[in-house]
Amino acid sequence: MTNRTFTMIKPDAVENGHIGAILEKVTSAGFKIVALKYTQLSRRDAEAFYAIHKERPFFGELVQFMTRGPIVSAILEKDNAVDDFRALIGTTNPAEAAEGTIRKLFATNISENAVHGSDSDENAAIEGAFHFSGREIY
Ligand code: CMP
Repeated sequence: MTNRTFTMIKPDAVENGHIGAILEKVTSAGFKIVALKYTQLSRRDAEAFYAIHKERPFFGELVQFMTRGPIVSAILEKDNAVDDFRALIGTTNPAEAAEGTIRKLFATNISENAVHGSDSDENAAIEGAFHFSGREIY
């Protein structure tokens, strides 16, 4: 089965010059980029995207971080996309991430962790539709 996941290269990784290296890891791992955008989230965008976390103590910090500079958002296609991408990026906390994972290589800390990866097929569809119109997906 071929399916899709959604990702963002977060402001820390963009600031640190890792866009190219991260996209290279993603495509080398067999993911096809079917949508791609370089953009900056507004406060309203970030609050809506992360609404599921709004009761968490780190919500304000998360919104501040995700809006402080541009991001790269993408929809990726591969068999078993959600699980394979989460394996490629590693655990939320880069200090615990496996060697060779994107977060181990490029993330700063648990709050500035370089990349997002959808946690389910359902959320991948919701998150992809949040960032892209149908005409922007190829
Ligand atoms: P991600 O899993 O992509 O989406 C939720 C984000 O919240 C997560 O990445 C981190 O950027 C952030 N986050 C998760 N846990 C913490 C934490 N304990 N402290 C600060 N930020 C966090």
